[in-house]
Amino acid sequence: MAEGTKYSPVFACPHCAMPLAVTSNSATCPEGHSFDRAREGYFNLLVGGRLAKTATPGDTAESLAARRRFLNAGWYSRIAESLGDALGSIQGPVLDVGCGEGYYLSHINGTEKYGLDISKKAVQMASKSDPTSHFVVGTSFHLPILNQSCAAVFTVFAPHSFDEYRRILQPGGTWVTVTPGPSHLVEMRPQRDNKILEREEKRSEPPTEAADAVRIQFTLDLTDEAAHDLYTMTPLQFQASSAEAVHTVRTVSVDVWVSHGTLTESPASPRLSL
Ligand SMILES: C[S@@+](CC[C@H](N)C(=O)[O-])C[C@H]1O[C@@H](n2cnc3c(N)ncnc32)[C@H](O)[C@@H]1O
Ligand SMILES: [Zn+2]
Repeated sequence: MAEGTKYSPVFACPHCAMPLAVTSNSATCPEGHSFDRAREGYFNLLVGGRLAKTATPGDTAESLAARRRFLNAGWYSRIAESLGDALGSIQGPVLDVGCGEGYYLSHINGTEKYGLDISKKAVQMASKSDPTSHFVVGTSFHLPILNQSCAAVFTVFAPHSFDEYRRILQPGGTWVTVTPGPSHLVEMRPQRDNKILEREEKRSEPPTEAADAVRIQFTLDLTDEAAHDLYTMTPLQFQASSAEAVHTVRTVSVDVWVSHGTLTESPASPRLSL
């Protein structure tokens, strides 16, 4: 192995699932698949380098900038604190699946921090602002992550797979998810009929896999700028059909589940198959 090369304890080749030998400019697996390091420091581990445009709806430069302003202003700091409490003290690698522009990863304790998102723009922003963490572009449903390599894994408001959590966690490892509760941002949502509301109630329960779930509820009295940013960064299904809400709504309910579980048994040797 060339001088200055070492194997990543976490990242796996998205083609063959083998470990990646990492240098300052590339990552290469024993099969010879090779990935260039981007200027900002991350690797693109999406097979083919990109997904269909439809895979990241609403994830524009504008919504990312809005999310960064809103989060850095501290409006969701209670969510970051609860996430930190649920993770506890982590000994070893921790992975943020769907890390966005990196706010939550930069707010948790840990010495070996890894982030993954399907949006290249988000990963660029995250790498730039947090050079001590390691970021990749990738998908949460086929994580380019070695089996049993992570001490903890978490996801905040982003797609994730419990099968993948189980595969990548070390025995005894912890997972944490933050998901919307029934009245999350209810003031910003369009009017719905009862059938839709019922379906949404079901979707806003904590995951059945959770050993424990804490419901965090609080109200925000937003400034005009924060209201605009929240509206811009929020996925379309939570937005009122008319853009009027952004001009009128200033008080919003935050309602989230912070759920967690521990992997007590070794998985039955699942493999990363892509
Ligand atoms: C609502 S944002 C949340 C971002 C960040 N966790 C936060 O709370 O600030 C959802 C994120 O999930 C990412 N995402 C969507 N589909 C994904 C997938 N299949 N794999 C990985 N990330 C995905 C998006 O690019 C986006 O950054
Ligand atoms: Zn490979």
